[in-house]
Amino acid sequence: MLGQSDDWDLSCIQELGQLEKKVQDCCRCGLRGGCRGVVFGEGNPAARIVICGEGPGADEDRLGRPFVGKAGQLLDRILEACGFGRFDHVYILNTVKCRPPGNRAPSEEERSACRPNLDAQIRIIRPAIVVLLGATALQEFIGPGGRITRCRGSWLERDGIQIMPTYHPAALLRNPSLKADVWKDFKQVVYRYRELVDPGHYSAHC
Ligand code: URA
Ligand code: URA
Repeated sequence: MLGQSDDWDLSCIQELGQLEKKVQDCCRCGLRGGCRGVVFGEGNPAARIVICGEGPGADEDRLGRPFVGKAGQLLDRILEACGFGRFDHVYILNTVKCRPPGNRAPSEEERSACRPNLDAQIRIIRPAIVVLLGATALQEFIGPGGRITRCRGSWLERDGIQIMPTYHPAALLRNPSLKADVWKDFKQVVYRYRELVDPGHYSAHC
């Protein structure tokens, strides 16, 4: 028999699946015409943490999955150090679901066009915590004035969701000296996760 939380998980899975089907046909901006396919997101639909990146790159576009290239491998190592599994504790998505040509950042217009998709994902998943990776994700959540160097490491709050901006893993690959800050930020996420979700959450490193 299904317990209450299993019922909840099941309805998240169904709703997110229905949304994904709809988003697969989304042509609200020009990006869909220039990419192979929609990268909707992946993870546990009932996760209490959402990780938001910028947009799919070439590897993601090819495989239809978020954060599977070099930056994604680094993200996986960070999550692992926190005791978070990609398909267990988190759901990973991007501000836009289609790859911008040449890996440029998605424009404000493209992000606004995709915003209903992002909002619907957040509404269904109902995370306690959102981690914003990089300037584009930050600006999507707080507006064009958001500076990642200024905002990273400090909690924001929106609609009862705790939001932690940090550097994008691609920025860490370019500039490894940013890793210390990102690790500080993810430690804060682990601590907040223990406060809000699971006091017994285990991480070997914090
Ligand atoms: N960079 C992003 O912002 N998102 C991905 O999915 C991969 C790389
Ligand atoms: N600059 C960015 O755009 N993103 C980062 O994460 C760090 C520096």
